[in-house]
Amino acid sequence: MESVSKKLSLVVLVSCVAVAAPGPEAAAKAELKRVTARKGDVVRGKETYQAACASCHLDNGAGQPDGTYPQLAGQHPVVVLKQLADIRAGARENAQMLAPTQALGEQELADVAAYLKLLPIPRDNGRGEGELLDDGLALYKRDCLSCHGRSGEGNAKSATPVLAGQHFKYLVRQATEIRDGTRKNANPKMMDAIKGYTDTQIVAVADFMSRLVMPELPKPAKQK
Ligand code: HEC
Ligand code: HEC
Repeated sequence: MESVSKKLSLVVLVSCVAVAAPGPEAAAKAELKRVTARKGDVVRGKETYQAACASCHLDNGAGQPDGTYPQLAGQHPVVVLKQLADIRAGARENAQMLAPTQALGEQELADVAAYLKLLPIPRDNGRGEGELLDDGLALYKRDCLSCHGRSGEGNAKSATPVLAGQHFKYLVRQATEIRDGTRKNANPKMMDAIKGYTDTQIVAVADFMSRLVMPELPKPAKQK
């Protein structure tokens, strides 16, 4: 009798702890609040970027047209920081980036994000076959433009990514993962916008997006 009630209280205790412990989303949100309040140092950001990120995302931030590594140059700092906080906390799964980003302090994250913002967005990113661009334009205007912007410039206030210059294959993969719920950290309205899409519609809209060009390129980072 006694052991049963002991077991019972243990179960109650364990489930209370499980409820009380913040999940990855809450941890990521709290970290994002702290890191966006820090002022990034671009000189230190360049050093940290080259040591911790460039092996995959390349020195100029351009990533790879095959879609394995995303383009990061010119991205809104808040977007970079949100993705890093989500990845560090496990709210967005990314096995490759977990160890390298968990090794960094919060100031280093702010520095890297400030540095990336200054890099010019490349215009030779990977594109699609170009066969469905009329459909892509129509879908983009109807479902995506309101948030991602006329030139794919996104929106820093709502942490909407710059998509101009992003590789077609990366866009297809992310759009598909957001639709299917395997990328779990996306904005719920973004999930609504894409949920009814067929694979062909994703290809069409991603090909169109990969051709967006932002009118004003950010200034190149100061060379040291
Ligand atoms: C070992 C390779 C590797 C290293 C090192 C690495 N990344 Fe990544 N990163 C990736 C991969 C792979 C993805 C795409 C993951 C996916 O498909 O969901 C990614 C995605 C990202 C994204 C999300 C982009 C988006 O808009 O979806 C950001 C931001 C990012 N990395 C920043 C960084 C920064 C900053 C560093 C250094 C502190 C870094 N990464 C180091 C491999 C790496
Ligand atoms: C309500 C605003 C909104 C709408 C509408 C919207 N998006 Fe998004 N989208 C976002 C936000 C915010 C993110 C960043 C998600 C996150 O926090 O990880 C995002 C992320 C993305 C990404 C991942 C980019 C990256 O760098 O990882 C792709 C691809 C994308 N959106 C495509 C689309 C497409 C295609 C449409 C139209 C069918 C669309 N979005 C409509 C807000 C929106």
